[in-house]
Amino acid sequence: MANKDLRDWIASVEKTGELKVIKGAETKEEIGGFVDIYMRKMGQPAVMFDEIPGYPKGHRVVANILTSVPRINLALGLPPETSEMELTQWWRRYFKDAPSHPTKAVNGGPLLDNVLEGPNVNIQKIPTPVWHELDGGPFIGTACLVVMKDPDSGWVNYGTYRVQSHEPNVASVMMSPGKHGLVIMRKYHERGQKCPVAVIAGMHPSMVMLGGIEIPYGKNELEAAGGILGEPVEVINMPKTGLPVPANCEIAFEGFIGPDDKIKEGPLGEWTGYYASGSDLEPAIRIETLMYRDNPILMGAIPAVPPNDNTFYFGAYRAGAIWNQLEAAGIPEVKGVWTHQAGGSRFMMVVSIKTLYGGHSKQAAMVAAHCHAGAYNNRWTIVVDDDIDPTNFDDVVWAMCTRCDPRDQVDIIDGGWSSALDPMCYDTQDDRRNSRVIIDACIPFRRKKTFPKVARSSRALDDRMRAKWAKDLPKGF
Ligand SMILES: Cc1cc2nc3c(=O)[nH]c(=O)nc-3n(C[C@H](O)[C@H](O)[C@H](O)COP(=O)(O)O)c2cc1C
Repeated sequence: MANKDLRDWIASVEKTGELKVIKGAETKEEIGGFVDIYMRKMGQPAVMFDEIPGYPKGHRVVANILTSVPRINLALGLPPETSEMELTQWWRRYFKDAPSHPTKAVNGGPLLDNVLEGPNVNIQKIPTPVWHELDGGPFIGTACLVVMKDPDSGWVNYGTYRVQSHEPNVASVMMSPGKHGLVIMRKYHERGQKCPVAVIAGMHPSMVMLGGIEIPYGKNELEAAGGILGEPVEVINMPKTGLPVPANCEIAFEGFIGPDDKIKEGPLGEWTGYYASGSDLEPAIRIETLMYRDNPILMGAIPAVPPNDNTFYFGAYRAGAIWNQLEAAGIPEVKGVWTHQAGGSRFMMVVSIKTLYGGHSKQAAMVAAHCHAGAYNNRWTIVVDDDIDPTNFDDVVWAMCTRCDPRDQVDIIDGGWSSALDPMCYDTQDDRRNSRVIIDACIPFRRKKTFPKVARSSRALDDRMRAKWAKDLPKGF
């Protein structure tokens, strides 16, 4: 039986009432304009564009995909009503045993509906939006997977790196330093060889979730996706490069990146909400084969002023990783972790703990702000007591307003791990740093017994109310 694919996920999203279909919007600015507005608040529906001027009816674009917790849950095979903190716990367990299945090679699949080779290749047959007004052009790869094979070990890496569409048979890819794709590409170039590459644009969203997170060096993201789907991912090998792509993905193309073959790329609005890293020369992909399903669906996950589709799904994943690393560092009684969507799931994090001793909360803050999962591009770390839900910012701000004495509960730490994407980073190109704040918004340990009582119903009363009055109470209470 074929794996679940993008179309299955879209059908499940539609069933939960989280899909909006828009007909007639064009690619130059209107699709991007729609997506920008839908992304400004999390929990808006995913948007599917059809009847796009200049393209056949049925050639579609879907975007604003992973900007609601229910849609993330559906991508991971969880019940849609799973809460943020349950989702965070799911990621914590995932890190511990990371299930996987080897991929399974098959002879055919829907991807072969349309195969264009050599002079017939034309990626511009796929409706590809200019996502923001100041972008350098249309980007076919945002929620995509860039496929490369390590020439030494044969390991196949699937990484999510942006891919710009330039000409019918030319695209470019932007991989930041340290990304696995860049490491692999350089191995070919150092040998004077062209690097074989494939790009997948439109697949089950669990795959792009894995392509966009730090799956360890040497691990295959489609094998990891098999672990989430509960079965091997069926793949077909692209004809020129032999690179394996899901047999039921929507669109895939392959080609080669020559040594020193670069093209002016970008800019593309970034997940921090700015164009901070601009435009530069980046590797050009000379495309030899394009394949797509009948009525293909291009999938987009667009970076922009947060909250955005590039980073929202990271929230639970990153929170789970930080929680595990806090525990590994010996911090007891961590009760929750969240990274706020308005900080692109990196700049602002909240840790909730049951404080056991003086200094416990500050210790937790220091570790969270600098552990591996939390350190990069962080700016605000807030620690709250265990009666505060870290996903509820009214509660978090209330704790900051009423439990924090800035004289000794706020610290500025200098010299943190930053990047060019952070508009407030300082220092030079190879040594980007930022300063960051830790806010201890826990009731000071010495005052725990004497602190004023909280004027809110107890959990026990909430439970009694829920048991007796559920249908008269607001949803989600
Ligand atoms: C939607 C989306 C777009 C991304 N775009 C880029 C990009 O253009 N360049 C880049 O280096 N990383 C980008 N990332 C981050 C990488 O995908 C992420 O760091 C991932 O771990 C890289 O895979 P790798 O570890 O196999 O290199 C993006 C992530 C997402 C979710």
